[in-house]
Amino acid sequence: MDLTPARPLPSDAALKVAVILGSNREGRFGPVVAEWFLSRTAGHPDIETDLIDTADSEPPSVPRPVGIEARLDRADAFVVLTPEYNHSYPAPLKHLIDRHRTEWQAKPVAFVSYGGISGGLRAVEHLRQVFAELHVVSVRDTVSFHQAGTLFDDRGALKDPAPAEAAATRLLDQLLWWGLALREARARRPYGG
Ligand SMILES: Cc1cc2nc3c(=O)[nH]c(=O)nc-3n(C[C@H](O)[C@H](O)[C@H](O)COP(=O)(O)O)c2cc1C
Repeated sequence: MDLTPARPLPSDAALKVAVILGSNREGRFGPVVAEWFLSRTAGHPDIETDLIDTADSEPPSVPRPVGIEARLDRADAFVVLTPEYNHSYPAPLKHLIDRHRTEWQAKPVAFVSYGGISGGLRAVEHLRQVFAELHVVSVRDTVSFHQAGTLFDDRGALKDPAPAEAAATRLLDQLLWWGLALREARARRPYGG
């Protein structure tokens, strides 16, 4: 199924994708996955990314950070990078999701997951339920790294890049299709959900 736009988009019409890094613990593996994913979108003619790191978000006692609110609002689409913790996704990610509402609505989300044996798949299934409540469409295809620590070398490069690169291409094609379709739809008729 070829989902690529019929023609390259004008440069000012690139899909704005907020890439959200879901883990924030000391010594986390997340930045390796983030760097890999951003290497897949770098140079993509139709996609512009903005990395939002949950490590930079504020504790619950602090009022909602305006900067992150504006960045989520500006985004046409989201990619969540999530590890799996105890069969679900990390608490800082839930915190970031719950602090915002209309910023998410009527936009698509895609998932890049990683973990031990599960590759983060259970975290992704939980996230699909959460995002449905926020009127977010989750795209079907994911990238998942099982036993992630063993798949990358010391420089953060994948030892066998082809399968993950093919999965990332499918994910981005689907995200782009939904992202452009929903952006046009929101412009025509504001989402009332
Ligand atoms: C608290 C905790 C719970 C975990 N639970 C699971 C799990 O249920 N399933 C799994 O496959 N991996 C699990 N792992 C392994 C992590 O998914 C893996 O170490 C991942 O790299 C963690 O991401 P991070 O380093 O970016 O925080 C767990 C790790 C931690 C720290």
